[in-house]
Amino acid sequence: MYKIYFTLLIMLLTGSSLLASSQHKEAKELFTEAKCMGCHNVNDFNARQEAVNNFTKLHKSVQSCARNTNAGWFEEDNHNVSRYLNHKYYGFKQPPKLEE
Ligand code: HEC
Repeated sequence: MYKIYFTLLIMLLTGSSLLASSQHKEAKELFTEAKCMGCHNVNDFNARQEAVNNFTKLHKSVQSCARNTNAGWFEEDNHNVSRYLNHKYYGFKQPPKLEE
């Protein structure tokens, strides 16, 4: 009986990490296509005091840059890229739900 629960748990864990990595792949493509690195280099994407110092602020920056560059991203794309940049560079704790 425990074996079944254990198998289910493993399936759940590997499934969710696969999902996360495919989301990151999609975000990376969006990010590349929108030429975000035309203005930025990786040193821009670091947590700084009094600037981008939490996930919500990171997300706001992504939203405004995507808007300014006419990337044509939906909110879901913004969020995806924010999570991608957070995963790759910032490492902020993510709120369960974004404040608007
Ligand atoms: C035309 C130039 C330009 C382009 C293209 C651009 N950005 Fe920006 N971005 C800026 C400027 C200017 C800032 C503000 C920098 C500051 O406040 O220190 C900024 C800030 C940011 C920040 C916050 C950086 C930090 O930690 O302080 C993020 C994240 C960001 N941009 C993401 C993006 C994304 C995603 C794209 C692609 C859709 C993009 N940017 C394209 C100019 C640009």
